Amino acid sequence: MGLIYAKALIKYNIVKPSELLLVEKSKARMEELKKMQLGEVVTPENPKISESDLLLLAVKPQDFDELSTQIKQLLHPRITVLSIMAGLTINYISKQLDHKLVVRAMPNSPAGLGMGVTAITAHVNVLPEQLRKAEHLLSTTGRTVYLEDESQLDAVTALSGSGPAYFFYIVQNMIEAGKAMGLDEGVAEMLVKQTMLGSFHLINQADKSLDELIVAVASKGGTTEAAFKVFEKEEVGTNLQKAIFNAEARAKELSKS
Ligand SMILES: NC(=O)c1ccc[n+]([C@@H]2O[C@H](COP(=O)([O-])OP(=O)(O)OC[C@H]3O[C@@H](n4cnc5c(N)ncnc54)[C@H](OP(=O)(O)O)[C@@H]3O)[C@@H](O)[C@H]2O)c1
Repeated sequence: MGLIYAKALIKYNIVKPSELLLVEKSKARMEELKKMQLGEVVTPENPKISESDLLLLAVKPQDFDELSTQIKQLLHPRITVLSIMAGLTINYISKQLDHKLVVRAMPNSPAGLGMGVTAITAHVNVLPEQLRKAEHLLSTTGRTVYLEDESQLDAVTALSGSGPAYFFYIVQNMIEAGKAMGLDEGVAEMLVKQTMLGSFHLINQADKSLDELIVAVASKGGTTEAAFKVFEKEEVGTNLQKAIFNAEARAKELSKS
């Protein structure tokens, strides 16, 4: 994810390579990053970090405690710390770094294509211009939405953070059904992917509600209605919601405050 942001920041001229520090601990990975020429590649102890005005935290949550001890001394009081780490609250990050200006965001994996969606929330001490800067940075990977209430990030994690995997799962199962009905895998894949793409544009552009869109496809006594009879009998909709609530519960369990 850190690399996605580095690439997006350069691509959209938010910073020049001469203004970007890529912080990496592994020697082998440092060499790989240097070849990409996105910016200067440094270790977490490098004093140049102290000259930055924004620090993006993109390590795994379990690596943050180690990283915080390495960078804590390097943070000047005006640096904006922007975390995309799942589950670590603003309060926790703030305590570990002994730093107030913390912005927290939850992106999702289509960020790499510039089609992500990111929810963002901030410590009360973060100034509007610092928040705008963080939002500007995150917008290079798609859309952003600001949330007053940090606790809603657990729902965001369950909905859009994990969301791409739900769609992959639905696509996978539709392709499997196509194969089971005798279609070639390639044909089934093309049919399902194009159906998903077309359906997305209908949701976005048609002047109809989701219910109306369903009714428009499901004529009385027809094939779609036959499929929906099974969805209803097996409570597929309710179970999908239950799965998402379980993801939210897990986000709460993993949360460190
Ligand atoms: N992937 C997603 O779809 C997604 C969505 C939303 C949020 N997030 C959040 O984004 C964060 C990053 O996820 P990811 O999937 O990009 O993880 P990742 O591929 O493991 O990237 C983390 C990077 O941080 C490096 N690192 C670890 N400790 C470090 C330290 N002390 N100093 C410098 N670099 C260090 C790791 O190096 P090594 O490999 O050498 O340890 C690795 O290159 C996570 O907190 C995750 O919760 C991810």
